[in-house]
Order: sequence, then C-alpha cells, then structure tokens
Amino acid sequence: MSDPHLDGRAAIVTGASAGLGAIMARGLAGAGCAVLLAARRGDRLERLAAEIAAGGGRAVAHPADLRDPGHPQDLVDACMHAFGRLDGVVLNAATSVIARAEEEDQEAFMDVLRVNVGAQAALAGAAARAMIAAGRGGSGSPKKAAKTASYTGMCSARDTTVARPAQ
Ligand SMILES: NC(=O)c1ccc[n+]([C@@H]2O[C@H](COP(=O)([O-])OP(=O)(O)OC[C@H]3O[C@@H](n4cnc5c(N)ncnc54)[C@H](OP(=O)(O)O)[C@@H]3O)[C@@H](O)[C@H]2O)c1
Repeated sequence: MSDPHLDGRAAIVTGASAGLGAIMARGLAGAGCAVLLAARRGDRLERLAAEIAAGGGRAVAHPADLRDPGHPQDLVDACMHAFGRLDGVVLNAATSVIARAEEEDQEAFMDVLRVNVGAQAALAGAAARAMIAAGRGGSGSPKKAAKTASYTGMCSARDTTVARPAQ
C-alpha cells in the first residue's frame, strides 16, 4: 500500500540479500519507495529486484562488499544514477562472530567492527552529504549511527560474554 511519506522517494537498503534487509526492502518498495539493494550475494539481490518489479515496484540490485573503502560513495552514486534522488539509507547489513571467549579471534572481531560500525558510519556520511547537497535531509548524524551500532555490539557482548563453571 502506497505511503505518502515514501511514495516517489528512493532509499538504499544494505544487507538486502537476506533476512530483515530483504523484508524492509519489500516493505519500502510496496509503499512506493524505489530501493537500491546492496549486499555481496548478487544473485539474491537480482531475484529480489525482479520480484519487486513484478509487483509494480522499483528496485535495482547493486552487489558489493561493505568493507571496500569506495563502497559508501559507490552506493550513493548508484542510487542517484538509478533513481535521480536519495532520501534515506537503511543501515541494516551486519556480520557476527560466535566463538568461545578463550578462542577469541581478533581478526574476525575487527571484521565485525569494520562492517557493523565503520562501514555504517561511512555510508551514513556519504548519504548525508548527498542529501544535504540536494537540499533534503541533514538533521541526522553519522556519529549517531556509529554510536547506535556500537551500543548494539556492546549489549551483545555484555549479554553473551559469561563465565560458565567448568563441567
Ligand atoms: N534477526 C534478528 O533477530 C535481529 C535482532 C536484533 C538485531 N538484528 C540486526 O538486524 C540486522 C539484520 O539482521 P538479519 O538477521 O536479517 O541478518 P542476516 O540475515 O545475517 O543478513 C545480514 C545481511 O548483511 C549482509 N552483509 C554481511 N556482511 C556484508 C558485507 N561485508 N558487505 C555487504 N553486505 C554484507 C548480508 O549479505 P551478503 O552475505 O549477501 O553480503 C545479509 O544480507 C543486523 O544489523 C542485525 O544485527 C537482527
């Protein structure tokens, strides 16, 4: 069902190849918002874009890895190229590592920070600059996005890092 706040607008959805990202992309498209679908698995993005188009929505698949330093600006440019505008970003993509505390893998942990915090802040910044230049948006803060992502990670660490008595 079309939504007057979203109809005719355009947004980037990261992590659109699975789970909540795909669900939010479908929801936005159903409300009339064009969506740029971002994630690494291009085949899944293409299938979702075709599904959305079949339902009368607008979607473009844009496969890429968020860890690529050029990724944020590339996504913003792709959205502007495809739809001529950018009105919002759903910073949804995330990765995680599940391991026993004593088997902690620093490189895997840094990868979580790169994807879930660093890349989100970079994309929020690139999108904000594009929206401000186009005369829309600008009240949010990339720092808030990174802070929210950090809180999520901290809460997760707090909730899952527990010392269990030896069996
Ligand atoms: N599901 C829950 O119960 C729950 C609860 C609380 C919070 N959340 C949050 O909600 C968000 C989505 O959760 P989910 O369960 O839907 O996750 P998910 O099914 O694991 O999907 C994660 C998405 O992120 C993408 N992604 C991961 N690494 C990437 C990278 N390096 N570059 C580009 N894309 C990458 C994946 O696509 P590719 O593999 O194709 O790249 C995938 O589309 C996450 O931020 C999660 O922390 C979820």
